[in-house]
Amino acid sequence: MNPKAEVAHPSLAAAASGALARRETLTITDNRTGKTYEVPIREGTLRAMDLRQIRTGADDFGLMSYDPAFANTASCRSAVTFIDGDKGILWYRGYAIEELAEKSSYLETAYLIVKGELPTRDELDRWKDNITNHTILHENIKKYIDGFHYDAHPMGMLVSTVAALSTFYPDAKAIFDSASRELQTYRLIGKMITLAAFAYRHSRGLPYIYPDNELSYTGNFLNMLFKMTEPQYRPHPVLERALDVLFILHADHEQNCSANAMRAVGSSHVDPYSAIAAATAALYGPLHGGANEAVLRMLREVGTKDRVPEFIKRVKGGERKLMGFGHRVYKNYDPRARIIKKIADQVFSFTGRNPLLDVALELERIALEDEYFVSRKLYPNVDFYSGLIYQAMNFPVDMFPVLFAIPRTSGWMAQWQESLLDPEQKIARPRQIYCGSGLREFVPLEERSGRREGA
Ligand code: CMC
Repeated sequence: MNPKAEVAHPSLAAAASGALARRETLTITDNRTGKTYEVPIREGTLRAMDLRQIRTGADDFGLMSYDPAFANTASCRSAVTFIDGDKGILWYRGYAIEELAEKSSYLETAYLIVKGELPTRDELDRWKDNITNHTILHENIKKYIDGFHYDAHPMGMLVSTVAALSTFYPDAKAIFDSASRELQTYRLIGKMITLAAFAYRHSRGLPYIYPDNELSYTGNFLNMLFKMTEPQYRPHPVLERALDVLFILHADHEQNCSANAMRAVGSSHVDPYSAIAAATAALYGPLHGGANEAVLRMLREVGTKDRVPEFIKRVKGGERKLMGFGHRVYKNYDPRARIIKKIADQVFSFTGRNPLLDVALELERIALEDEYFVSRKLYPNVDFYSGLIYQAMNFPVDMFPVLFAIPRTSGWMAQWQESLLDPEQKIARPRQIYCGSGLREFVPLEERSGRREGA
């Protein structure tokens, strides 16, 4: 049986002929040949493969589209997350992020994202039990983490330890077995907090703390990070809830760089641990999940409010980027940034105000009035304020991207599963426009001369 037949999809051929019949089409005239083609428009898109028929002759490969960075290309159909970038709207499975942040918990939202529906009480209890029961790591992973230098970046440790998990769970290769996928989902969501906490404890030279299954997911994570000599760690409810909401906000964000990495790497049918390692690596970069760390370093560099105008000048001069600003999809305020600003107030009322908040507020105030940022529709994104909260909660700056990777695991698993079961998907393999040399004759080494290194 075709494993992809698990999901019902309308016949694509039928959809295309329906579009043609309704004249939802685009007529293209190729001025090279004078020929005219009518191609269907479905769901607001053209199929790039419909261009292939446009050829100048029998030897012509056919027309392709060129879209570096996928700026105007949908790579999949997805039912997980909806973003309206102009209006600043974000939904998971049809539920508004504002409502989820107020009324849900991270694990409930993770269930929604992975399974498509909100759970019943029993379903949620089972889901939580299963994830909690998979937070323990194989003891050998500790030896692996021990091998890292004391100042190893925790994201580097996370990327490699998640990849290492694939060697502990060879059963995960059964990617078309739904029970196996479910088990790996529990393991991955469960173990991410333990891997992250162990990486932190290693960098501090502190003993590893085992999970305490009496605690919530985020409470347990805080326990594994910060427990010292007390017999039982009790997280402060304000910080526990704040972290849980931050996890909800970071759980998925449709086809971003790391989700795309997850899908592309997963399309080779590798196991999910290896694919999650690739997605985590993509998240590490400062243009993606590493931006929260970069924002904090930038705020420290600016230092005080009075130095903000000078910094903005350097950004406008192209010398620097205003980290935590701008987004490929949002051309309006990122709704997650709005929620984070509110959480910051609650956290600071407990921890005391982070003095860098004034610098951040001033940067935002000036940027939102400045023609450079206004004309480019650059607004604060999720990473602009999150670091200030993490810092107030005592997380070191290099842990910030790790705090993004933990909740994003549920989104990656949902995107991966959707991609595997989509009958239209195959191994991700883009085309290129070759712009290198024509065929050349090999020159023996002793006959090569007069060419500069790298020329
Ligand atoms: N500071 C200054 N100028 C900027 C910024 C910024 N943060 N972001 C974009 N621009 C300018 C850019 O130079 C370009 O100007 P011009 O038209 O004169 O060449 C214009 O705005 C359009 O930018 P772009 O680079 O074409 O936009 P993109 O969609 O390729 O990049 C981005 C999106 C998020 C990578 C970019 O805005 C950026 O580097 N932001 C800073 C890093 C950051 O905060 N990343 C986190 C993103 S949200 C969470 C996540 O995905 O992890």
